[in-house]
Amino acid sequence: MDEIVKIDVNHAQLVTALVMSQKPGRVLELGFGSGEATRAILAGLRYNGAGCEYTIVDNWLDFDGIQPAITQDPEYAGINFVTSPENVFVSEALHAQNQYDFIFSDADHMATQNWFEPVYQQLLARAGILIYHDVTNTRDFPNLLRIYHDCVRNGYHYALFNNNSRTDERCDRGLLAIFKH
Ligand SMILES: C[S@@+](CC[C@H](N)C(=O)[O-])C[C@H]1O[C@@H](n2cnc3c(N)ncnc32)[C@H](O)[C@@H]1O
Repeated sequence: MDEIVKIDVNHAQLVTALVMSQKPGRVLELGFGSGEATRAILAGLRYNGAGCEYTIVDNWLDFDGIQPAITQDPEYAGINFVTSPENVFVSEALHAQNQYDFIFSDADHMATQNWFEPVYQQLLARAGILIYHDVTNTRDFPNLLRIYHDCVRNGYHYALFNNNSRTDERCDRGLLAIFKH
């Protein structure tokens, strides 16, 4: 796994703070990667100290199709790892009318914009928080900018964090936090 995919440290701290403040009971993460976002979410959940259902979906594309042994680490005990392509999981979850309070999306960078609307409208619970990484990484994923444009057009409540102040940051890739009312 290439560490370069992980979210920036300040975005990770933001994710932790959002989890600490929102107190989600159902968390869905799309795309494990290097586990940076996972550890940020876990830090928030551990602070909260309350029970939470936490599901991570990954097809392990970045791991030659094999779930990495690191996911068995005691650090990740209690997380429900689901091996699935994102689109299949989302489609089944929509059919089952499942809902999540906090969704962190950083898996299918080629097509996730195509099911943004049903994820926001149906999969995300009322007062939920939905986060997309890489939305302004237009060099690598110009398609993801559509999610930002959809938020603007539809009047959704969002905050986009994509400013760098240091040379060791890659915040310009963009972290989009969408808040459902
Ligand atoms: C960019 S990495 C996630 C980085 C992670 N947020 C972090 O901070 O370390 C993307 C992950 O999504 C997975 N992935 C890629 N395409 C996918 C797809 N279509 N369905 C499910 N998982 C996918 C990859 O195997 C990888 O683990």
